[in-house]
Amino acid sequence: MPAWTRDLAGIPSTLRLRVAARRPVPAPPPDPGEVSVRVRDPAPVDLTRRMPLNKLCELEDWLDPRRVAAIRRCLPYFVAIQPDFPSRMAHRKHWEFAQLLCGLEELSAVDAGSLVLSVGAGHEEPVYELTNHVRWVFATDVYGGTQFGSLEGDGRMLVSPDRFARVPYQRNRLVVQWMDGLDLRYEDGTFEVAFSLSSIEHFGGYHGAQQALQQMARVVRPGGVVAIATECILNGVTGHRGRGLALFTPSEIGELAGSCSDLELVEPIDFGVSPATMSKVKPLSEALLEARHHVTDYPAIVFEHRRRRYTSVFLFLRKLDRAG
Ligand SMILES: C[S@@+](CC[C@H](N)C(=O)[O-])C[C@H]1O[C@@H](n2cnc3c(N)ncnc32)[C@H](O)[C@@H]1O
Repeated sequence: MPAWTRDLAGIPSTLRLRVAARRPVPAPPPDPGEVSVRVRDPAPVDLTRRMPLNKLCELEDWLDPRRVAAIRRCLPYFVAIQPDFPSRMAHRKHWEFAQLLCGLEELSAVDAGSLVLSVGAGHEEPVYELTNHVRWVFATDVYGGTQFGSLEGDGRMLVSPDRFARVPYQRNRLVVQWMDGLDLRYEDGTFEVAFSLSSIEHFGGYHGAQQALQQMARVVRPGGVVAIATECILNGVTGHRGRGLALFTPSEIGELAGSCSDLELVEPIDFGVSPATMSKVKPLSEALLEARHHVTDYPAIVFEHRRRRYTSVFLFLRKLDRAG
């Protein structure tokens, strides 16, 4: 049995057949870009190090006590099931939540008076968790309008955010709005922070992602922060543009980060990835089946789609204060 017909025990046979029947795709050409991912030496992790903010998701990041505490804060329902969570349950989605919360704290980006915007928010936990620390959180998405309509982009979020709340939160500080990330209907400089997790890769290729970043930069005040998590290819091949999903090369990520003249990276992007992170790769088709059946085979960090291996990369950018 070829490797791409994975063991999907426990998943209905019709779905299993659909996955197994897919033909193997040819290898994509190498990426001609100048930036590439570097597999690190398998050295022991220095637990006293400061964890970079602009980086790829790595298995060793679960050794950072601040990240672990943030993951536990965002996902208390996992802690209730498994007291030592997130031990043995590394998922890049949880990492994105932790990286966002720890990064905003480290950059002193928010306080009790802040306005925070999430673009392509779905019903992610950070929009709830942040209401405990800021004045207002605006969760925006084209709720019900894409292939995510029955998943993260569930339209019921618009009328009843309480039903999706799995974190204790301040319900009078959360505003949920239907809004296209390519056309943010806010005045310039409204927010202290605008962020987007796992979403801009669904906005229409590189140009959609770039337009969304531009919009976020516009609505953030000078000195404010724009934070993005998106997909970065690890195995040195060209980018992918599919229906509703783009996978970006490291060069494209660098280009995206530099594409908005009002924004600058708070620090360079660390494109290093550990051998342990690369040692488990999950086909995207399998991850989608797992999501549908509410099961996860951990760690869920590196995925593969059309012969591209990829994981999340996080970018924190600051809006330049041209007047100051
Ligand atoms: C993978 S989900 C991520 C949701 C959430 N950020 C999270 O991390 O759970 C991608 C989200 O992007 C939303 N989306 C797709 N295109 C959009 C657009 N043009 N503007 C705003 N949101 C969009 C989808 O509805 C979906 O909720």
